[in-house]
Order: sequence, then structure tokens, then C-alpha cells
Amino acid sequence: MKGKLRTGATVFIVVFAGSLCWGDVRVLDLRCEYRVNPRGIDVAGPRLSWVLESNERSQRQSHYRILVASNEEILRSGRGDLWDSGKVVSDRTTQIRYGGKTLESGMVCCWKVRVWGGDYKGSHWSKMAIWSMGLLAPSDWKAAWIGLDSDIVPPEDRKKTKIYRPCPYLRKDFALNKSVKRATVYATALGLYELHINGRRVGADYLTPGWTDYSKRIYYQTYDVTDLIKGKADNTIGAILSDGWYAGNISNLGQAFYGWNLRLRAQLVVRYDDGTEVVIPTDGSWKGATGAILEADMQGGETYDARLEMPGWDKPGFDEAGWKKVDVTESVEAKIEAYPSAPVRRLREIGPARVTQPKRRVFVLDMGTNFAGWVRLKVQGKAGDRVRLRFAERLNPDGTVYTENLRSARATDTYICKGKGTEEWEPGFTYHGFQYVEVTGYPGGVDKTSVTGVEITADTPRTGYFRCSSAQANKLYRNIRQTQRANFIEIPTDCPQRDERMGWTGDAQIYVRTATYNADVSAFMTKWMVDVEDAQYDDGVFGCMAPRPHDFVSPAWADAGVIVPWTMYQVYGDTRIIKRHYDAMTRWIEHCRTNSKDLVRPDQGFGDWLSIKADTPKDVLATAYFARSTRLMARMAGAIGKNSDAAKYEQLFEDIRTAFNKAFVADDGRIKGDTQTVYVLAIAFDLLDDAKAPKAIDYLVADVEKRDWHLSTGFVGTKDLMGALTKAGRLDVAYRLFNNDTFPSWGFSIRHGATSIWERWDGWTPEKGFFKPSMNSFAHYSFGAVAEWMFKTIGGIDTDGPGFKRIIIAPRPGGGIEHADVKYNSIHGKIASRWKLADGVLTLDIDIPANTTAEVRLPAADVAAVTESGKPASKAEGVKFLRMQDNAAVFSVGSGDYHFISRGVKEIRSARTKQ
Ligand code: BGC
Repeated sequence: MKGKLRTGATVFIVVFAGSLCWGDVRVLDLRCEYRVNPRGIDVAGPRLSWVLESNERSQRQSHYRILVASNEEILRSGRGDLWDSGKVVSDRTTQIRYGGKTLESGMVCCWKVRVWGGDYKGSHWSKMAIWSMGLLAPSDWKAAWIGLDSDIVPPEDRKKTKIYRPCPYLRKDFALNKSVKRATVYATALGLYELHINGRRVGADYLTPGWTDYSKRIYYQTYDVTDLIKGKADNTIGAILSDGWYAGNISNLGQAFYGWNLRLRAQLVVRYDDGTEVVIPTDGSWKGATGAILEADMQGGETYDARLEMPGWDKPGFDEAGWKKVDVTESVEAKIEAYPSAPVRRLREIGPARVTQPKRRVFVLDMGTNFAGWVRLKVQGKAGDRVRLRFAERLNPDGTVYTENLRSARATDTYICKGKGTEEWEPGFTYHGFQYVEVTGYPGGVDKTSVTGVEITADTPRTGYFRCSSAQANKLYRNIRQTQRANFIEIPTDCPQRDERMGWTGDAQIYVRTATYNADVSAFMTKWMVDVEDAQYDDGVFGCMAPRPHDFVSPAWADAGVIVPWTMYQVYGDTRIIKRHYDAMTRWIEHCRTNSKDLVRPDQGFGDWLSIKADTPKDVLATAYFARSTRLMARMAGAIGKNSDAAKYEQLFEDIRTAFNKAFVADDGRIKGDTQTVYVLAIAFDLLDDAKAPKAIDYLVADVEKRDWHLSTGFVGTKDLMGALTKAGRLDVAYRLFNNDTFPSWGFSIRHGATSIWERWDGWTPEKGFFKPSMNSFAHYSFGAVAEWMFKTIGGIDTDGPGFKRIIIAPRPGGGIEHADVKYNSIHGKIASRWKLADGVLTLDIDIPANTTAEVRLPAADVAAVTESGKPASKAEGVKFLRMQDNAAVFSVGSGDYHFISRGVKEIRSARTKQ
């Protein structure tokens, strides 16, 4: 067997003697419905995937075999009593639908995979993975919706009055009389819930059950709690409820948007060793009380009075005196479904970078980065001492916290000491977007150990790594990731701090492709698309936000309903999401078609939101997006075999294109509005014919130049600005914009100390200070959509067709960047592109995952100038020369690591002002 071992930069060829029994391929990273060992799913035919690794070049999968068993022992014995796929001839490793016995409620499915490589040699079996089924039929739910009816009635004027009320605690003792094999709990709530069993918190998730349109759909979580349960003993299950999105403040709409009465519905299913089962559901036998959490609101914050703690409330033997009977009257119409997404979790703890004291007894801690979460407080005080924490993204010139931009979000946590030694506390039913924490009322002096930051985000594993020789680019990338984490909390929100935090669809469609580079958002976006469809109006318009507490209509926002499934198909090869939302998408296109005049869409919506002195006509923008979505529909229809629809939409696209030109493009190529964005959209969406396209790029560049080489684009234009310049052959201009640090530019905020992406280019300027507080967030991801270009152009990593099965590696060095190191963990495995450019010599090291192929486009004078690991590249193992194209040598390669050197490469410099 031949394999490669890498040590540093040196590559050794090692020949192993002996048995050739196992092929050189390993099966890793087994996933079910995009998640690792998900519990309680309700998909009838779950999709499975894995990743292959190999030391061989050009490794591929010729066959696979999947075994799914109803328990570990059966699987270990090599049997799949639920499903044995048999040896299937296929190179597929993703989106493989389970094809075994019908899956039933509560079933545990253990599975493993074996593959055969290109040489037909089998791999070892993978490690075992698991998924379990949730409660599939409504009748499986034995639990009632229970809660404590509060005496406090909802505010009459929801927008003005804020009412904060204590959180209910619920509990029940129960005894188990046999030894326990497995215990599973299913739980959901109206409001948020935190479940406890025998004194321990259940699971690592926060803000459960998550946010949906609660009138239509509510999710439940499933946890394996075998380790928390004691057999033949007394046990206790309990929960704390809080207002959350259901009853608490959302956007600027005040409280009780969905409802007011908080309810828990949970059911613990205990299976004994003897095979019998007992169910402990929420019902009228539970008791409730209020305790230390005096108030908890997503925007407002939490107040905790440690003097009111009820030690042992979640353990057996607690004295329930004073606890009331719970209320069981609520009836819920919404569908109850298994949580399909990436739950909110703690990501990391952050120590303060600096402590200042801008006023007497007022301390400000700089956490060093603008993130979402909360802080853990450490304090030693007298009983009744009140410590108040306020959160802010920025400071006023005098060093105090700047909170005006939070609008009506109170963003304040208060802790009242019990007066017993060192006390530590953190909330869990709220979150703030902040870099600075103001501490007042603290007994003694505040230092760096007084608070610790807790960053939370949706559990979307990191997939993207970007580093290059430009410190500004590295900082920008860091800020982009930080801002994504701060906003990927249950849904893709616009911002994490002010009284908004909505799932704005425009922001999300602009950013979704970037999001996929940074993190695995497959499950997260699968769930959010359900929210998007739930937020579709009867006339086919997708809402401007999902969930949809506000009613707005805007093109480019509504188009998220088409662009998100398209992106999921591109990045993960997902066709199920296309099928699931196909009708909804066609209804949107149909709405656009019938609500247009000669296929020209009306002037409507938010336009190129937050552009700089450049008003893009909204009819141009809307018609361009109509064309774009229609073309994506054509491609998606083709992807799921609806060929006549594909042809119909392609024709409609052509017709819209014609209409666009007729209505908006003059003979000299000028487009109505003459803004950068109109040209960007026309180029990016292929709306111009060959004669006019070169003019559009000239007008675009002329406008950039006129603004002393600056962009003027808002949310919509910025998304495609860099891609359009690159596509149209003006990479020099793209790099110039990228390198700028004067207003407006990405570098501008960085030069002024940004640790996150600002909502607006002019969020703060030296001349004017803060922009108006009515709309000035410092953590909006939209302008961070430039990371898509950074990955595709600097790193050069892209997919060639759906799901990164075929990969493009096409780095385009320029702008004075001397080296770059970019990686992306795709659904098919790890892709890397590292290059260095010095004195016209470009070295490129790439890693291509097993069972994929790549097209490598390497800047080169000619093919003879390119070598791979010292050999002429066209003759190297696993490499095939395809053609010269656009000053690049194009090769196809199989999987593996390659080391290319190209000599005589001309550097693309940033565009310069005319001499
Ligand atoms: C939000 C956005 C959103 C916009 C729509 C703002 O208030 O923060 O990001 O897309 O409204 O115009």
C-alpha cells in the first residue's frame, strides 16, 4: 500500500509492506439530517452523510454499505435489523435517504458505514453514530401544557408599558421502582424553558424551544437523560419558564405578541431494564412557585434576588409548602414538531481586557470584542446589595457606556446578593449584544475577575479559516465571523442589541453564502426556511422578516425565499429543501409576474438600503431581483427533474431580461439611476447583452473613480459589488476597494477600532461621531457579505455545481497581498488553498478531499511555467492539464494534496488614480 505522510512541508512516499486487505480510505463525520447524533427527529426518511479521508491521490468511493440497527449490540454484530443498504454502487456520501423499516416514535437508530475505494478495497467500518426518533404522532404526547397563572395581566399598551414579572418554577417528585435502561425527555414551552432533573440542568441548549411563529408551529427538544435519572429511587423533574419571544419584548412591539401565559409541556419516558416503560408527563399533579428570578426578558435583561433562592427545589426531598397547584387549561392549536436546527449554546468565555472608572463608583469593563451573550458576575457583598450591569457596544467620549442606540431595549441585569461569601451568578433567559459592561452598586472595587463574558451562538460548527498577509483583511474576517455568531441565534437576526433582533430576510439572503463559508449552517438554515415559508403572505409575497411580527413588503428581502434554498442546494447539494419549498417559491415568482407591467416590477420596498449618496431606483432593483430569482427557479426546477418548469422559467428569465433592457438601459448602456448598484446587479445577474456589458463595467468603475475610488453601495449592491467587478475583469478595482480604509469602506471601521461589522458605513465618523441612535447598530452582518468574495477570490475556493463534489480552486492574487491561507470544511471534507506570491513566482498548496475532484486555475504565463511537486504539472500524478484560459493554466485534479509552482506571474495591483 502506498501512502503519503506529511511532516511539515516535506512529503515522503512511504511504502507499506504486508497485507493489502484494507483500502486507504477512512469514513468519518457521520451525520443525520446535517447533525451529529441528533435526538428526537421527526423526518420519515432522514438523510445521512459522511466524509472520506485518504492518503491516496484521486481516491474515490466506488460503493458504500450502511447498516442501521435498533441497538448497539446488533450493530456491533454486523447486522442492520432496521436497514442494511447492501453494497451500493455509488460515489455518493451526502443526502442519502434512509431506506429501511418504518421508523417509529422513540426509536433509537444506531448506524455505521463502510465504503470501498476506487481500487475496490473496503474501508474499516466507521465508528457508530446514532439518531433517535421523536414523538411522531400527536397521540404520543401524554403531557398537558402546565404553568402558573400570574396575577399580573399583560400590559394594555404593549408598546409603551413594560411589565416585568417573576419566572415560574415547576416541579414534580416521582419514584422509580426498577433499574433504568434509558430515559428520554421531550420538552417544549410557550415561552422559554430550562429543564432540571435531580438538581442538574438538562442539556446544554439555551433559549429553548426556540423561535417560530408560535401560532403555526412550536418545536420540542429531546434529551437523553439516562445519566440524570436514578433507578429504584426518588427522582425530581422541574423547570423554570420565562417570557422569551413568546411573551416578552420583541422588536419594538412590546410584550405578549404571541401570548402571555407561560406553559411547559414535557414528558419523561423511562424504559426499565425489563423492557417496560413508565411516562412522567406534565399534568395537574405538578406544583409551581416563583423564586429568585424576579424578571427575565430577552431585551430587558434579568433581575435575580439570590435571597429568594429555593435550594434543592429541583431535587427529591424538597419541602413544597407554599407551592401551588399548576394550571392545565391552555389549549394549543399549533403543530408541535421536532426541533430541526442548531440550538443556541455557550461558545466560549471571555475575560475583560480593561477596567476603567469613568465616574465615581461606576466601572466599565471592556470585553475586547462586540459579541452576544451575557456575563457571569462574581461578587462578595451583604444581603440585599444590588449590583447593576448595563451593556453597550460603544463608549461615549467620556468613557461612559453609549446605550442610546439600543433604543427601548433596557439591556440591564441586576443581581441582589444573599450575603454568603463569594456569590456567582449568570442569567440564561436573556442575551445582550455588547463589548462594554457598566457595573454599578458593586460592593468593593471591580477588577477583571469580577465579570466573565459568556458568548452564545447557534451551534453551527466553524467551517471557514481565512488568513493572509494583510492585517486589515484578517481583522475584517475576524469581525465578520464575530458578527455572524452574534446574530445566528435561533434565527439569522439583523442585530443582537437594540429592540429589533428580527429575522430580516433581506439581510439573510445577502449574507447566506458568506454564512456557509464561515460555519455549517445547514440545519440552521433548513429550519429558518420553514420560518420563511410560514411568513409568506397569501398572495405569494415572502415577508421581510421570518418569523414575521411586522408587515413589510420589499424585493430583495422577499427573494430570500428563493435564494436561501438555492444556496443550500449549491453548498450542501440539498434538493429536499427545493422540493419542500417549491410551491412557495413558484407562488412568489407568480406574484412578481402578475404584479408587474410588461415584466417590469413597481417601485417598492427598501431599495438599496443604507447606500451612500446613491439612490438606486427601486423598480430597477426589483426587476433585477425578479430576473435573478426566476433564473434560480429555472435551475432549481431542473435540479429536481421538473424540466418543463425549468424551460418555462428560463424563458421567463429571458423575457424579464428583455424587459429590463427596454425599460432601463439606454442605447449607450447607461442604466436608469446610474448608481454603482444598478450596474452591479446588471452584471452580477447577467442582464445585459454582450454589447452593453462592457459599458456597464466602465460606468461602474467611473463612478467608483469619481468618488475617489470608493463604493456607494448599500446592503443590496454591496453583496454583489466585488463579484461583479471581478467577473467583469476589474479585479484591480475590487482590490482597491478592499484595501481602502477611508470612508466609506470596510477598512474604515477597522481603522476606528471596530471589533464587529457595523450596520452602516457611517455608524461613527471622526467628523460627526455616532450616527443617529435611532438606527445605528454595530453588529449587523450584511456588509460582511464581502467574505464570500474573499473565499472565492483570494482563497479561490468555490463549488463547481452542487455540494462541493466538484471543487474550483482559483485564487486570484492581487492588491499587494503576498500570501493567503484559506480553508473550508465542505460537506465533502476539508478543502485548503494556500499561496504565496513573490517576484512573480506563485506557489500554491491545495488539499482536495477524497471522493471529490477539483478544477485548479492557476495564474500562469503558459503550462510549461507550472510544476507540481517538482514535476511538469501536466505530467504529475492525479493532475490533468485542461486548457489555458484568461492567463491561467487550468488543470483537473483528483483528491489529495498538491504543490504547484507557477513562474512569471503578473501581479494584479490595486487600481490607481489616473496620472
Ligand atoms: C434592520 C435591517 C433591515 C431593515 C429593512 C432595519 O431596521 O435593522 O437590517 O433589513 O430595517 O429596511
